[in-house]
Amino acid sequence: MKINSLLIALGLSALFLSCSDGSPAAHEKKALALIPEPVQLERGQGSFTFNENTRFVVKDNSHGPVANLLANKFMGAAGFVLSTVSETPESNYVLLTTDQGMAREAYSLAVTPNHIKITAGSYPSLVHGIQTLRQLLPAEIEMRNAPETTQWTVPSLTIEDHPRYPWRGLMLDVSRHFFDKEYIKESIDRMALFKLNVLHLHLVDDQGWRLEIKKYPKLTEVGAFRVDQEEKHWNARNTNQPGDSATYGGFYTQDDIREIVAYAQMHGISVMPEIEMPAHVTSAVAAYPEYSCKGTPVAVPSGGIWPITDIYCAGKESTFAFLEDVMMETMTLFPFEYIHVGGDEATKTNWETCPDCQRRMREEGLANTEELQSYFIKRMERFLSSKGRTLVGWDEILEGGLPAGATVMSWRGIQGGWEASKEGHDVIMTPGTVYLNHYQGEPDYEPIAFGGYEPLNKVYAFDPVVDSMSVAQKEHVLGSQANLWSEYVTNNEESEYMLFPRVTALSEGLWTPKEKKDWAAYAAKIPALFERLEAMNVTYARSAYAVTAKSKLTETGGIAVSLANEFPESSIRYALNEAPLTKESPIYTAPLKLEGTTTVKAAVFENGEIVGDTLVKHFNFHKAVGATVQYDPIYSKRYQGTGADNLVNVFRGSKNFHDGQWQAWLEDDALLTLDLGRPKTFSSVAVGAMENQGSGIYYPTGIKVMVSEDGKTFREVGRLERPHQDNGFVNLETFKVIFDELTAQYIKVEVTNLAHPPTGGSCFIFLDEVLVE
Ligand code: ACM
Ligand code: ZN
Repeated sequence: MKINSLLIALGLSALFLSCSDGSPAAHEKKALALIPEPVQLERGQGSFTFNENTRFVVKDNSHGPVANLLANKFMGAAGFVLSTVSETPESNYVLLTTDQGMAREAYSLAVTPNHIKITAGSYPSLVHGIQTLRQLLPAEIEMRNAPETTQWTVPSLTIEDHPRYPWRGLMLDVSRHFFDKEYIKESIDRMALFKLNVLHLHLVDDQGWRLEIKKYPKLTEVGAFRVDQEEKHWNARNTNQPGDSATYGGFYTQDDIREIVAYAQMHGISVMPEIEMPAHVTSAVAAYPEYSCKGTPVAVPSGGIWPITDIYCAGKESTFAFLEDVMMETMTLFPFEYIHVGGDEATKTNWETCPDCQRRMREEGLANTEELQSYFIKRMERFLSSKGRTLVGWDEILEGGLPAGATVMSWRGIQGGWEASKEGHDVIMTPGTVYLNHYQGEPDYEPIAFGGYEPLNKVYAFDPVVDSMSVAQKEHVLGSQANLWSEYVTNNEESEYMLFPRVTALSEGLWTPKEKKDWAAYAAKIPALFERLEAMNVTYARSAYAVTAKSKLTETGGIAVSLANEFPESSIRYALNEAPLTKESPIYTAPLKLEGTTTVKAAVFENGEIVGDTLVKHFNFHKAVGATVQYDPIYSKRYQGTGADNLVNVFRGSKNFHDGQWQAWLEDDALLTLDLGRPKTFSSVAVGAMENQGSGIYYPTGIKVMVSEDGKTFREVGRLERPHQDNGFVNLETFKVIFDELTAQYIKVEVTNLAHPPTGGSCFIFLDEVLVE
């Protein structure tokens, strides 16, 4: 991509803004790459340079920790011990001060050659100011032992800044996989750098309870550990029995939590605990089965369970006594106003038959189990609000009636949030777009992820308010947060990879005024962002630089392949067949016209180097390309691929079943009749298929091939049987039926659907191509 020319363009516009007041020439000005982009920024003359004599000046001792945040970076990178004083020296200082007249999260930053001054509305906004200063320093500030020649220079400027939304969060799921205290603290430092201000810890789920509760020690003794089946796919792990050796897990002691919360406070960040209820609590039921309806002992599951039926009993008073005790200890540890109680995905079949739950429904006049869930959450809401706290829940808490003071976190799209804001409730919008456990690039090129597809530009474009909201509704939208569910995120590096750079795109989207939000300008900052992340030793994804390909059949029986990537202007080079892909390869400018079997390689180049993954696509011009295909029955409305030509268009599907290249049949077998247009000679017919059993997609169990000369009388020439095998991973395979060479114009392919898997439900078959050779 033309990052350099964009950088120059931005630098020039800054020059035009400031030239009139006599600032230096463009070549003296390095473009700034602040993320999030500030509200107002004006460049000045000259610069300020830190050295070992630079002092932080604070007039209020409680601001000392803000100075330390940057002083600690200097200690690590430069070995300077920058001390904090209360008297303002003549020069060479950074003054931190608050102004009660400013909005709570607003700050201003003025850099002159003589000194730097940060003025802010509160402690957290003072942190915003210091983090902006951190980003203005060279990336080496992030290093341990930076090169001695580093100039610690910051350009003269003034910034006036404040956020667009007050809630700019990050949720870490520490239940599905446990992340230790050190990683949480590193994450807090990174959140602060990008001005995110709420850390949501998903402390409870089926697969692990992660918070020490003194009154209920088994929650962590039992609930925090599970049988280690990490080598198996999440959804293909065996059911454990109570008492099985449980070695995978961990939890935060109350001291750990106090340390995390204090560290977050120092960084101007609030920590919101999530204590799930009534479902997603198998770990708690494993520890204390008496709080479930059946009271039957269970083990902590090692992987996915669905549906979630073993939930807290809503009838027994003891359940509420237990939860109130848990909440009391939780509130002592987490001073933040907001407490998340989950509320999502409860399958209430046990409530239908449990005598205690049924009695509760009669006594309370509840018509159904939705209303019983509403009773449950309302009761917790009254408890929390009596302690001065605000309950947050996933949008399921709307069902059966929303508690008066609740804030809704809308995850099943934004509809729940839309409705709750209509009812006058505050909402936080976290639809799939900000589910950073979803793929950020083509699944074929990415580590295994949850599914979905939320590339960088989509996350950047996300706005938690929509035009269909009234002004009053919009005011109830507090903001959004990145949710990183960790079924497939097993360690720190994988977590960082999913978060970066996407979380920085969300941060800009939630902070920067709508008028200043600009994908091309953000894209221009990515090289500087990556340089800083590297200095910080953060693993990040280059997926945004990946090239994607699309193709169309042409009139002449060939295909036209178009290449693209996420950036508005990028330099894609390509090579065909055996030719190596180098900086001398042709630049892609228009769709590539292919008339025969070809391998296309393509990548984004910058400064003569490949910056992302190299796309390698093989286009096989087999003998059915362009054939007419009749379907019996027709493919699913939901998965139509490219329509009539999908199975004979050369172009293959990816592991993303939403990529528009797959046709699907639910439960039905697919009978495909191909007319090749004229008699052709061939000796195999192959069918491209996907398996993604977690999403209900199974390989065919059989493929039968029949041919005909006249299109009326068909004879079988070969078949293939493939009995069902359990497999949690997503795979692609081309199943080939081989026979003696023959000549025919018509082919019938019967593709057999497993229809119903052993685990119950229905099966899809997904097909992308029928290859005749
Ligand atoms: C959720 O993703 N179940 C809130
Ligand atoms: Zn019950």
